Amino acid sequence: MSGYEDVHRHSIERPEEFWAQAARAVDWEAAPETVLREGRWFPDGRLNTCHNALDRHVAAGHGDRTALIYDSPVTGTIRAFTYAELLDQVARTAGMLRDLGVRTGDTVVIYMPMVPEAVVAMLACARIGAVHSVVFGGFAAAELAVRIDHARPVVVLSASCGIEPSRLVEYKPLLDAALEQAAHRPAHCVILQRPQHPAPLVEGRDLDWEPAVRAAAPAGCVAVAATDPLYVLYTSGTTGAPKGVVRDNGGHAVALQWSMSHVYGAAPGEVFWAASDVGWVVGHSYIVYGPLLAGCTTVLYEGKPVGTPDPGSFWRVVAMHGVRTLFAAPTAIRAIKKEDPSGAFAKKWDLSSLRHLFLAGERLDPDTYRWATELLGVPVIDHWWQTETGWPVAANCVGLGALPIKPGSPTKPVPGYDVHILDPDGADCPPGVEGAVTIRLPLPPGTLTTLYRDDARFTASYLSRYPGHYLTGDGGHLDDDGYLYVMGRIDDVINVAGHRLSTGQMEEVIAAHPDVAECAVIGVADELKGELPVGFVVLKAGAGRDPAEIERELTAMVRERIGPVAAFRRAVVVGRLPKTRSGKILRATMRDIAAGRDYRTPSTIEDPAALEEIAEAL
Ligand code: COA
Ligand code: AMP
Repeated sequence: MSGYEDVHRHSIERPEEFWAQAARAVDWEAAPETVLREGRWFPDGRLNTCHNALDRHVAAGHGDRTALIYDSPVTGTIRAFTYAELLDQVARTAGMLRDLGVRTGDTVVIYMPMVPEAVVAMLACARIGAVHSVVFGGFAAAELAVRIDHARPVVVLSASCGIEPSRLVEYKPLLDAALEQAAHRPAHCVILQRPQHPAPLVEGRDLDWEPAVRAAAPAGCVAVAATDPLYVLYTSGTTGAPKGVVRDNGGHAVALQWSMSHVYGAAPGEVFWAASDVGWVVGHSYIVYGPLLAGCTTVLYEGKPVGTPDPGSFWRVVAMHGVRTLFAAPTAIRAIKKEDPSGAFAKKWDLSSLRHLFLAGERLDPDTYRWATELLGVPVIDHWWQTETGWPVAANCVGLGALPIKPGSPTKPVPGYDVHILDPDGADCPPGVEGAVTIRLPLPPGTLTTLYRDDARFTASYLSRYPGHYLTGDGGHLDDDGYLYVMGRIDDVINVAGHRLSTGQMEEVIAAHPDVAECAVIGVADELKGELPVGFVVLKAGAGRDPAEIERELTAMVRERIGPVAAFRRAVVVGRLPKTRSGKILRATMRDIAAGRDYRTPSTIEDPAALEEIAEAL
């Protein structure tokens, strides 16, 4: 069977047959006899994900192939690891975790910058069947504390510092502060001492990474049930409490391996570079697991698209390492375009290895699409997915034969995904009509199985709005040719520079300010970052405060509580918030105003002048 349409139809009409076939590309200790039971894939299969990512390639004679290239302009380092070398590091690190008491099924929190040890740490957990939870470095100590308390790790793996272009980020004091705030106490923290800024260690609790790994005996792979969790990755929901997306081992390995060749058209031995961070889902799926499962060479880039040192750094990496597939966020391309509109830096490098540029994380605006296409002369492919799905829901699957590109659309649903646009009553919207983007159950392998320690929230957030369907939280429509257009979130989640954040969580932080009576945070369009959060605050009667001072204080609070990545810098003091007569803040209407969309003043509004005040402030 070939061609996108046939393959997609097969996957929807006969999913069990389709995925049983795909599962053959993975090594199993016990091959699954049952493909799907009650929404869980391969329930009687047993395997080890690390074995599939490393050991089997070495056993097949590819030990000398490059598995990982660490390219770090911020430290001036380029270092390659073969599959055999990476396996050795991973096995020793797994041995160290064992020695520290980590058992199969235990959790390990990883709070690390973009260094090879972060990848090693994830694979080491997978090797012994421990569940990793990686926390992005741009979050504040309080956010790390929330995740530590929820995940209850036996061990935390971290580093002394991260390196941002403008400053050194001291991870260790952030970790210490988080552990002071958290109720849970991990038995140990293992700290990678980076020469740029080694950190003092806490006697008895902290270990120095390098000697601890050197002293450990290598550990072998432990086969686990396909349905056992591989990792938990926290993502922003609509409230302050993050959602712990749970990924299983079997479905994940099968789906990612399938996606590498069919969605991305990548073959073993090719260089695949996802310019993201291991703290995000893109990093999990397409820096670490996908490329290694497929036997590719993955690039781990510790730098930015601009300023490390110039807007040519992406093109340097492509040229130096022979990158064939590049995956980035539209915001990164916009940052490059802003500093190098004529593409002069790209012309300095030989980009002939590059076949495709894939973009995701936010909507790819047609201007950026056109600029990148003209500059690179290769297909620029928008694809849409989310932390929950773990791999693309809609894409132009180049491995199945590329379809014509329509700017503004991530093309069509990927095989495995039965996408429906539903109206508020649950009926399918006709082409061209906007509705809620949903996926008819069952979700394909590799998608979330539940929310960690919160099955009830999993059902409430995703499955109860439209029975039989998974609610993505995005709005959009299909066109007459079945192309999907994803227009943005229909909830309180925003996307700032490709980072997913919760406005509800920011509101919780702002509401804690002693002079704030009430507030609403919405995402406002930004040329570079896609969206930026803006807070509207009503002060308590008699507060008598200077609005500029309030803005400074709120900015500091959000940075301190959520982290610099929130990029919260604007808080506007208003007389009142637009509300319905029953007191509900009209966030959706505020979002429409901010996005410059036509909006209707709701008939239930308490005071229409409040909306005008928001429009003026924007
Ligand atoms: N550790 C610590 N701090 C971090 C961090 C990390 N891993 N990542 C970001 N931060 C900090 C930054 O230093 C910055 O702090 P500042 O306010 O002191 O300057 C803040 O968080 C915001 O960072 P960032 O979002 O990177 O914005 P920027 O203005 O520094 O750079 C871009 C803008 C567009 C270049 C950058 O956002 C980018 O490369 N985005 C791509 C994102 C991406 O790949 N997302 C994954 C989806 S595919
Ligand atoms: P995250 O979970 O961080 O990957 O964020 C997922 C959200 O990012 C989605 O629900 C969308 O709102 C948005 N998103 C990701 N990719 C795209 C895309 N290609 N087009 C439009 N929105 C996207």
